[in-house]
Amino acid sequence: MPVIAVDGPAASGKGTIARALAKHFGLPHMDTGLLYRAVALNLWRWGGDPGNEFEAVRACNDIGVEPDDPELRTEPVSKIASMISAYPSVRSALLERQQQFAAQPGGAVLDGRDIGTVIAPEADLKLFVTASPEVRAQRRLEELLRRGMRAHHADVLADIRARDERDSTRDVAPLKPAADALVLDTSDLGVDEAVAEAVRLAEQRLTIEGS
Ligand code: CDP
Repeated sequence: MPVIAVDGPAASGKGTIARALAKHFGLPHMDTGLLYRAVALNLWRWGGDPGNEFEAVRACNDIGVEPDDPELRTEPVSKIASMISAYPSVRSALLERQQQFAAQPGGAVLDGRDIGTVIAPEADLKLFVTASPEVRAQRRLEELLRRGMRAHHADVLADIRARDERDSTRDVAPLKPAADALVLDTSDLGVDEAVAEAVRLAEQRLTIEGS
């Protein structure tokens, strides 16, 4: 059964695409960003220092991931997640959980930054979902407003650019497409179009009977 890796930068639409692929092929799905967010939330609740790798790695113990917890998506937690995800010890503390998920006999879909490069380099399909920073900032802004949070386009764009910079320049598992990834640029695609294109690419690559 197939393993599908979906990677890409913040607000590229990778989560939506990964969920849609999982549903389409009847596979379990893991949003690996939630693991980093859960560690960040732990640290934030203790008042730990995200600049200190030892404190960050301690926050990896006993993380409970409640995907619907709105606190996981707040700006301070997003920022801390981006900071602590650069620590090699944090990444290795979360590695096994992700690799076990990817190794399930029935196959799996995982989305994140390093699924195709580090977590599941043997994945049957690797998608790298991207979009321009302006389009991603607009999407993230709409998402924040929908959740009742206050935000401005310029601030969200600056945050996206800062996160792109941190994610792509870190030493361990930097954000970059795997050599054999298919790149899907969603800048000019609506959600339905992006999902349809991802399903088309997946069916082509996996030669699985689509439902
Ligand atoms: O899509 P967005 O960047 O808003 O969030 P996310 O995918 O939930 O990821 C949260 C943070 O965790 C990001 O800033 C990444 O730096 C980090 N992350 C990572 O380093 N590796 C992963 N496999 C997933 C997320």
